[in-house]
Amino acid sequence: MSTSESKGAKGARGRRFEQALDPVAAALNASVDFDRRLLPHDVAGSIAHAEMLASRGLITAEDRDKITAGLKMVEGKLASGELAWDDALEDVHMNVEARLVDAIGDAGRRLHTARSRNDQVATDLRLYAIGSAEQLIDLIDELRRALVVQAKKHVDTLMPGYTHLQRAQPVRLAHHLLAYEAMLSRDRGRVADAAYRADESPLGSGALAGTTLPIDREQTARALGFGELTRNSLDAVGDRDFAIELVAACALIQIHLSRLGEELVLWASQEFGFARIGEAYSSGSSLMPQKKNPDLAELVRGKAGRVMGAWVTLCTVVKGLPLAYNKDLQETQEPLYDAVETVSACLEVARGMILTTVFDTVRMRAAVGAGHLVATELADYLVAKNVPFREAHDIAGHLVRVADERGVELSALDLATLRGAHALFEADVAEWLDPDRAVDRRDLVGGPARERVLSEISRVEAELG
Ligand code: ARG
Repeated sequence: MSTSESKGAKGARGRRFEQALDPVAAALNASVDFDRRLLPHDVAGSIAHAEMLASRGLITAEDRDKITAGLKMVEGKLASGELAWDDALEDVHMNVEARLVDAIGDAGRRLHTARSRNDQVATDLRLYAIGSAEQLIDLIDELRRALVVQAKKHVDTLMPGYTHLQRAQPVRLAHHLLAYEAMLSRDRGRVADAAYRADESPLGSGALAGTTLPIDREQTARALGFGELTRNSLDAVGDRDFAIELVAACALIQIHLSRLGEELVLWASQEFGFARIGEAYSSGSSLMPQKKNPDLAELVRGKAGRVMGAWVTLCTVVKGLPLAYNKDLQETQEPLYDAVETVSACLEVARGMILTTVFDTVRMRAAVGAGHLVATELADYLVAKNVPFREAHDIAGHLVRVADERGVELSALDLATLRGAHALFEADVAEWLDPDRAVDRRDLVGGPARERVLSEISRVEAELG
């Protein structure tokens, strides 16, 4: 516990109390270690509030100017470390206010007119959520761009597409990478939605029931860039659903990133040998000199638990709270910050990993040639000759069995063998068993055909600008 050097600081308790908080209780009560992240929003909110108070004649223009200059000074000094944060002052709001009073005296004592820390923290957190959403959207778009860069390089790289992690049908590596782009573009939408609903100013809700003073809620909302006003003071100070929504969006981002991380881990293994992750994103082993471990891909995978946990924590804190503000709500801050910061770092690392990964196109292509990935083509060939699909599927399955028994790929079976299974097989079946052709026959919206992948790349590029 540091002791406050602040002369003006009485904390939030004032003279109502004779005894100081028990030191362990004070440590549990304080939020300044984490809510200092709200400093720029807290100061912006206070400046908007002071300007509004002055335009409503609730403080003088002179006081407003002192407050505004004082707040900027305090913000600069707290941010640079010239002024120390004081745990004894509990939170960011009381730290800023106390330092302001130290600096400018009585004018500073007028700042909290017609305001409570309850509407103040709700405002700060909404501004934080909106700002974080903007940052996340930029980071998502950067990762989408990186995926497109690699997709463009690998339009003609064929690889096995998998179901059940068993080789299924050939696809283009570009198509596989663009699957992640598709996930991320939905994630972007979810983050934007969360920001949209956070975009309401709670200022003026007071502690719970507004204020008797003739304030102008529109003015502070506009000054802070909010699009709307909250419509119920109890709800405005008592809910954190905007944070839950943003963290839910973060959890889904991280879930998607964890799948990408898992694929990189698999692909970088000697068993797959599909990819070499850049050295800037790989670790060595302290024991085995030959090792190059995909630690960062593993961490991007592993952090999902943490972000999903943040969402569960937030929901659990808010559920069952009676209206309106309860101190429990302070517990919604750390999971929010942690989710935003974790996901931001992982988006950036994933981008770097994608850009620096070198794909082994030869290994991928070789994998397409083993495992009868064109078995579906054989069935389709017969379907084109009017054989019912179920029967065609059965015949192709039988031929896979024959090929396996002979230890060869389907494409190595001679025409006589094929005809033995069905009389409609002719010499042109050989073309159907070419994986390039198999991919390009999947020529539909959302499919892996070359032209479809190219137009998808153009569409995404146009969207990213
Ligand atoms: N640090 C507090 C929080 O995050 C600020 C609001 C305090 N309000 C109160 N009535 N004690 O919720």
